[in-house]
Amino acid sequence: MKITINKEPNTKSEALALGIFKENTNQYKDLNPELDKEITGAIKKGAFKNKSLEFFYTKMYNSAYKKIIIVNLGSKNEAEPETLRRAMSIVVKAATKSKLKTITTNIAEMLREETKITAEDLGRALAEGLVLSNYAFEKYLSKKKTSFIKEVSVQWTTKSDKFSKGIKQGTIIANATNFGKDLVNEPSNIVTPKTIEKTARAIANSDKRIKMTVLRRKDLERKGMNGILAVSSAGNFEPRLIVLEYSGGKGEKTALVGKGITFDSGGYNLKPEGGIEDMKIDMGGAAAVLGTIKFLSGLNIKKNVLGIIPTCENLISGKGYKPGDIITMYNKKTVEVLNTDAEGRMILADALHYAEKDLKAKTIIDLATLTGACMVALGYEASGLMGFNNGLNQDLIEAGRNSNDRVWPLPMYDDYQHLMNGEVSDLKNIQAPGMAGRITGAITAGVFLSKFVDKAIWAHLDIAGPAHIPEERFYNQKGATGAGIRMLSYYFLFS
Ligand code: BES
Ligand code: ZN
Ligand code: ZN
Repeated sequence: MKITINKEPNTKSEALALGIFKENTNQYKDLNPELDKEITGAIKKGAFKNKSLEFFYTKMYNSAYKKIIIVNLGSKNEAEPETLRRAMSIVVKAATKSKLKTITTNIAEMLREETKITAEDLGRALAEGLVLSNYAFEKYLSKKKTSFIKEVSVQWTTKSDKFSKGIKQGTIIANATNFGKDLVNEPSNIVTPKTIEKTARAIANSDKRIKMTVLRRKDLERKGMNGILAVSSAGNFEPRLIVLEYSGGKGEKTALVGKGITFDSGGYNLKPEGGIEDMKIDMGGAAAVLGTIKFLSGLNIKKNVLGIIPTCENLISGKGYKPGDIITMYNKKTVEVLNTDAEGRMILADALHYAEKDLKAKTIIDLATLTGACMVALGYEASGLMGFNNGLNQDLIEAGRNSNDRVWPLPMYDDYQHLMNGEVSDLKNIQAPGMAGRITGAITAGVFLSKFVDKAIWAHLDIAGPAHIPEERFYNQKGATGAGIRMLSYYFLFS
């Protein structure tokens, strides 16, 4: 999709998208009385009944446009960058529904005139809304369903350097997110641990500031990374611990650790019907890490970031790890496996210790589709945030708020910290079997992970809810959303 900036609406575009604020539904009166009549007529008939971000099509005689789309932006006092993202998603959908490929719009310009949102923020939100909406996963459909937008001409009458800068940022962020969506939407017979490695390799090869190393089974055995080895033991593919080192600047290293289970059957604690079908998405954390590295490289961010991905399958076979097994982890702590479906924390634990001990990361952020309990707590609208460092927590919450790829804190009270202590081992991998173990399920997973971080500043993001959604919401399609990528992009841009 091409985004261009113009002083006037582009009369060559097929669709014209105009905004309206609740406070001034007559704003086109002087400009075009006929259009004003159509709009006020439609509103009288109930076109904008109650909500903001509704739209309708209207007409203008003697107009070159095939469709005129009127979008209700709500109240100007309540407008945020998210208003623009959502408005753009409405415009893209309204235009592509009629197979139109070019759009011109005044909506960003209206927000510039009527709100305090900066030009850079507007540019970024505009591009994110457009590019994220212009996505569909249709690779395996013989007959494609979706039509895409080719060009958007954006009206902007003042100096446009900050606005352009925002558009560039937003385009890179959204493309990185769409890349993450593709990776998560692909089924597990296509995206295997081998594919994750290949995908990481392609990113490393695209930028000489990125160095890649891969620890294979032999390496993992030599180092004693038995958490990853145990989980992978029934899989069809050898496990890997993939490291991308992005050296974009000076200063301390931040590590991003992403869960890369390419299919989670649950293992011997097999998932039931209804719980297993979507488990190709269990590498959503890995996708978030790869997408974020793509963003850092694409926008030439001057920071040093490590992307660390433990990846394998969690399957069943005679070689698989079993409930009751005791595993000596990479940091030498012993873990009793009370449930083979709590596998994410087993592979992350070794990766976290590796990030701190071998790679000397000072800050570690892990992302994982870790628990159903986090979905019960927060639904699809926010990832769970756990950690002990208030500064990092606040930065991530802020990045989540501004990107609307939201994270919400769950408490890590002292009183929770013993809940994963084992009876015959240092730790157990679930609190307790059965219903008793469901209580505080997201938090106890976080508590478990925390035992594998020593001095580094650390935060854990449980993205199980937002990573994959059951129905479309504005610029997020049904299925994968690329959760974590926008939030981390904002974090590295602004923190
Ligand atoms: N991958 C799942 C968590 C998950 C569930 C992600 C639904 C996305 C959607 C994870 O490995 C898992 O199975 N967790 C268990 C933990 C339990 C055994 C303590 C869960 O949430 O039930
Ligand atoms: Zn599991
Ligand atoms: Zn899992």
